[in-house]
Amino acid sequence: MPEENLMEKVVSLCKRRGFVFPGSEIYGGLANTWDYGPMGTALKKNISDAWWKFFVTSRLDMVGLDAAILMNPKVWQASGHVNSFNDAMVDCKKCKARHRADHLIEDAIDDIKVEGLAPADLDKLIENNKIKCPKCGEHDFTEARVFNLLFQTYIGPVAKDSTPVYLRGELAQSMFVDFKSILDTSRKKLPFGIAQIGKCFRNEITPGNFIFRTIEFDLMEFEWFIKEKEWKKWFEYWLDEMKKWLDIVGIDANKTRVREHDKDELSHYSKRTADIEYETPFGWKELYGIAYRGDFDLKQHIEKSGEKLDYFDPETNEKFVPHVIEPTFGLNRSVLMVLLSAYEEEQVGDETRVVLHLNKNIAPFKAAVLPLQNKLSKEAKKVWEKLAPHFSTDFDVTGSIGKRYRRQDEIGTPYCVTFDFDSLDDKAVTVRDRDTMKQERVKIDKLNEFLNKELGSYY
Ligand code: GAP
Repeated sequence: MPEENLMEKVVSLCKRRGFVFPGSEIYGGLANTWDYGPMGTALKKNISDAWWKFFVTSRLDMVGLDAAILMNPKVWQASGHVNSFNDAMVDCKKCKARHRADHLIEDAIDDIKVEGLAPADLDKLIENNKIKCPKCGEHDFTEARVFNLLFQTYIGPVAKDSTPVYLRGELAQSMFVDFKSILDTSRKKLPFGIAQIGKCFRNEITPGNFIFRTIEFDLMEFEWFIKEKEWKKWFEYWLDEMKKWLDIVGIDANKTRVREHDKDELSHYSKRTADIEYETPFGWKELYGIAYRGDFDLKQHIEKSGEKLDYFDPETNEKFVPHVIEPTFGLNRSVLMVLLSAYEEEQVGDETRVVLHLNKNIAPFKAAVLPLQNKLSKEAKKVWEKLAPHFSTDFDVTGSIGKRYRRQDEIGTPYCVTFDFDSLDDKAVTVRDRDTMKQERVKIDKLNEFLNKELGSYY
């Protein structure tokens, strides 16, 4: 698919077909928040279900967690988020636009082809007029100011009398804080993982690019607990599994690359971090990440809580604090890259057909039953009733059959099942394949079996 206006086209399709709308739109929206409509909710849920199936339920060495969003604030002090979960920002003095300092540096590095510059070099770059405002092109900025990304709120009715608490900025900390309870109740042996899917909140300075960077988002993440000496092996293993996941979910792997973090980018506790980046219409951007977090987090919580969070190895009779590999996946970014990968405009005769070639396992509807005319609705509904308990199935009677095919193509429905006048006699329907547009006649009593086979096991 040519890249021209791809982002605009996907955003417009999302609005037109009920995938994603601006949040609180009737009040003018709020800070790049987005609501997922009926199609978006189904797509997002199917992606997270497929993730859970691939990384959790199809393995014996992974367990799930669904922890509270609000945690004791001491958690975020121990993890370092209260003191160092920061972004530096600068304002353009001319047009007043606000920018993240690290993004301006990235742009400047791209422009002037200088490598190895770190955020500390911002002042140097500003002084030398190497940084320009992406909005107005000026070189006149305020000094960099540092912002903490944690959202703060209060428990209790009177804010001034209450202790501040934070909306979680990442999922990981609950996997560390609950490590002992999970170990004791699941009796897992190393290596094993704790996985979670849930909302996170970050007071981003520059949210934007549709659902790419938002102030609340969904993460799918696991902490993989290991013996220290095995970290390199497991890092490679999970990076490979992450690449397999791209295929399961339908993200175009040819548009991805692995970017290793430079030494000066690494967190103080990490020996290796890599991002899987995607070539979006707005440049190469981080899609997923994988980090070797060492034993930093568990040790911090041992020190600050006074609890024992170590592991007893029954084979060697040793006690130690496990090390951790952390693969992390943004769910909303998955939705966006799936849509960018799936969107296609095809010339069919004189018409342009917009189609989402979604992987069948994540399509909002697996099939749609379409009575050729309204008067066939009652009989066609019986076909829908046979499919609905097994596959998420739409039923659409409005508009010409051609229009209904186009509508289903735009939301990525793999199979349209047309009930026509012959169906009354031959007890068969016409099944149209979304991708090839080929049609075949299938007996109604064989339809479930047919779709089961076509859709495969991953849904
Ligand atoms: N526990 C590790 C962690 O949270 P991160 O790189 O800060 O790592 C993980 O975030 C993933 O979350 C990213 O790879 C990205 O997919 C997604 N993500 C991060 N910030 C986001 C934002 N503001 N909006 C949407 N997704 C975001």
